[in-house]
Amino acid sequence: MKASAPGFIRYALCVRSQAQLRHGCAAVLLFCLPVFALSNDPAGVGSARLGSSIPPHQPVHASNTVTASLRQLAAPQGFFIGAAVEAQTLRDDAGYRTVLAREFNMLVAGNAMKFGPLCPQPDQYDFTNADTIVAFAATNGMQVRGHTLVWHQQLPLWLEHGTQTPAQVKAILRKHIQTLVGRYRGRVAMWDVVNEAFDDNGPALRDSFWLKKLGPEYLAWAFQWAHEADPAAQLVYNDFGIEGMNAKSDAALALVTRLKAAGVPIHAVGMQMHITPEMPARLAENIARFRTAGFAVQFTEVDVQLPMPVQPTALAQQADIYRALLETAMTSGINTFVMWGFTDRHSWVPHFFKGKGAALPFDEQLQPKPAYTALHAVLTQAPSRR
Ligand code: G3I
Repeated sequence: MKASAPGFIRYALCVRSQAQLRHGCAAVLLFCLPVFALSNDPAGVGSARLGSSIPPHQPVHASNTVTASLRQLAAPQGFFIGAAVEAQTLRDDAGYRTVLAREFNMLVAGNAMKFGPLCPQPDQYDFTNADTIVAFAATNGMQVRGHTLVWHQQLPLWLEHGTQTPAQVKAILRKHIQTLVGRYRGRVAMWDVVNEAFDDNGPALRDSFWLKKLGPEYLAWAFQWAHEADPAAQLVYNDFGIEGMNAKSDAALALVTRLKAAGVPIHAVGMQMHITPEMPARLAENIARFRTAGFAVQFTEVDVQLPMPVQPTALAQQADIYRALLETAMTSGINTFVMWGFTDRHSWVPHFFKGKGAALPFDEQLQPKPAYTALHAVLTQAPSRR
């Protein structure tokens, strides 16, 4: 999408409807209008916060270089390629902002929309970071994934260690979901409603705070409350370890199928795709069975971690994996490919896996790695999906 007009023109990626996005259909580009930043920020949140909380965001000039960006290649395919972001990094790192806005048409908050960071005290929400991310996305014509409404980690301490009764916990969760989803109604296209409900290795449900307090009914309740708060949002069950054909993906398929049959508004399954340089077993077959059961499938947290110090051969192997993942996504009816970050400068991997890192397509100097080149090649060569 190249600017034809001079000046600070931003493009809104206009999809026909949230409903189309929700059902995992390729978003059909009706038109791409040059819009000015504030005009596509209906609540005005972005303009206020952008003015006060981060330096004036330099627009993404339409690239007049020969090489198209990932988002410029993805958009005509109705494909969303994105990354997880942190608000503070958006504020602090101009290079990070520039690459993000140039290359991606979807964002997800890595931490800012989780219950604990949002609500450190009962009924006291701090939306500063979440608003910064949503505003940045609006300014740069990007869709937003909401992450995550119900998870066993990063809960507020007042809740996790509280003495609330089950009935009180149910009311707290309902109010949380409707507060958060309601605030971003129409501005967050999809929500990871429940994240990682199964044990790490499946197939049993995780004995989480939510299961202990509410029983398995919490799963259906969460989706229903999210749907009430934003009927147009695509509602996703998100998990790791369900990418290949295995006992955990079997259990996840059975769960979402059962919920859907009971009338629960669950539209998609997110495969996180936190992997080492090895493809999940029978990935395409697994995707197909979720789609046959009526669910859109998304890759929601892609990264391919490498042993450190990284070797050139490992970078080539990583590129092959990124290529295979994107090729599989594009030939399996997936239209959402979101990575958990985009640069090794800001990645969770080294903090959680000793001796591992370099998991993303840009290096610590924000330079493209072979993995980026592989993604670019797949999008360049992709037959039109229209
Ligand atoms: O913000 C606080 C900071 O104030 C404090 O000084 C610092 C030291 O205690 O902690 C900071 O919070 C950290 C937060 O990341 C923000 O950096 C938390 O300790 C840390 O636990 C948290 O880690 C996050 C992790 O989820 C929690 O399990 C990662 O950033 C985040 O990338 C990761 O993301 C998850 C997805 O949500 C779900 N799928 C798996 C994925 C990787 O674990």
